[in-house]
Amino acid sequence: MLAIQTNPQPAALAIDVGFGYTKAVSSTGGKVIFPSVVAPAGSPDAFDRLDKSDTGYRVRIKKGIDGLLEEWLVGELALKEGREVQYFQDWEKHSHPAHDAVLLAAAVLTWNWPRAGSGIMGISNPALVVGLPVDVWRDELQREGLKKHLAGLAAEVSVNGNDPVRVTFSRVYVYPQAAGAFLTVPDLPDSGIVALVDVGQKTTDSAAIEIVNGRQRLVKTMCFSINKGMAALVEAVREEFRRQTGAPLPPQQAWETVKSGSLWYRGKQIDMAPAIKKARSEIARAIADQVLAGWGERADFVRKVYLAGGGILDLPDLKNMFPAAAVLPGPQWANALGFLKVARGLAV
Ligand SMILES: Nc1ncnc2c1ncn2[C@@H]1O[C@H](COP(=O)(O)OP(=O)(O)OP(=O)(O)O)[C@@H](O)[C@H]1O
Ligand SMILES: [Mg+2]
Repeated sequence: MLAIQTNPQPAALAIDVGFGYTKAVSSTGGKVIFPSVVAPAGSPDAFDRLDKSDTGYRVRIKKGIDGLLEEWLVGELALKEGREVQYFQDWEKHSHPAHDAVLLAAAVLTWNWPRAGSGIMGISNPALVVGLPVDVWRDELQREGLKKHLAGLAAEVSVNGNDPVRVTFSRVYVYPQAAGAFLTVPDLPDSGIVALVDVGQKTTDSAAIEIVNGRQRLVKTMCFSINKGMAALVEAVREEFRRQTGAPLPPQQAWETVKSGSLWYRGKQIDMAPAIKKARSEIARAIADQVLAGWGERADFVRKVYLAGGGILDLPDLKNMFPAAAVLPGPQWANALGFLKVARGLAV
C-alpha cells in the first residue's frame, strides 16, 4: 500500500465517483454527495423559477482552449427534470461522457478554484485521488488511461450560473476502492489477516491485508470485485411489481419504493414491503457467499472484517454473515476519506 506522508497544508481533493453516488471531500473541509446521474440540460423554463426547493446542479463545461460548451443537469435535478437521464451502467464508467460532468461538478463544489480568465494559473490546484473497482484497477490500461485523462483535463466550469472557474489537477492518482476505505480503519490489530468489504450500488469490493509485527502487506487473492450491490434490490422491486401488475416500473420509482415500502398504481396502493424484506436478506446472503467463496480457505483465518459502502446501511444482515464484522463509521464516505489521505500525501 502507498505510504502516507502528511503535508501540513496540502491542497488535496478526493472524488469517489460511484455507480450510485458521487462522494467528494477536500483538505479544506469541502464535502458533497449527490446521485451519479446526469442529463443533457434543456433551457430553463418558467417552472424552474417557481421551484426553489430543487437540489442538484446545472453545470456548464468548456474543455480545453476552444472546446464545445456542454451543459448538464447533475444529481437530483437530473433525476427530476432530465428527459434523457444517463446512469453509469458501463463497467468502464470513466469512459462514459457523463463521468467528467459528475467529477467536475464535485470538484467545483468542494474546492476554491481560480476564476476563469483571471490570469491566475495553477497556484492552488489540488492533487486529486479517485478510485476504481479493484478488478478494473488491476488492469493497467484502464488505470493508467483514467489517470492520463484526468491529469490532462483542463476545463472552465460553472455551477448553477456562478462565475466559471478553471479546473485542473496538479497530480492525479487512481486508487483501488476498498483499499481506500481501509486507510480509514481506526483500530487495526497488530497481527493477523483483516479484510474490508465495500458494498456499493453495483459492485462489492473486497480487500485484505496481513499484518505481521505491525507491517502490512496486501493479500492479493482476497482483493477482488463482485458484480453485485444495491442495484439488485431495485431489480427485485421491479420484478415484483411486474409480477403483481404486469407493467414495468421505471428505475427511479423503484428506488423510491425501496425507501417507502409501497407505491400507488392506478389508484391502488401496492404493498412491496414483504418483497423488499425478502430481497434484502437474499441479496445480503448472495453477497456474503460470493465474497466468502472468493476468500476460499483463508476465510476462516480472517481476524476481523470491516464493512463499508452505503449498501451496508441497507443490508444490516451482512454484519452477521462475516466473522467478527464491524461497520466503519460513516461507511459511505470511507473510500473518499481514504483517498483524501492519499491525496494529502501527494500534494506539494
Ligand atoms: N442516505 C443515503 N443516501 C444515499 N445512499 C444511501 C443512503 N442510505 C443508504 N444508502 C445506500 O447506499 C447505496 C450507495 O452506496 P455507495 O455510495 O457506497 O455506492 P457507490 O459507491 O455509488 O457504488 P459502487 O461502489 O458500486 O460504484 C445506495 O444504493 C443505498 O442503498
Ligand atoms: Mg463505491
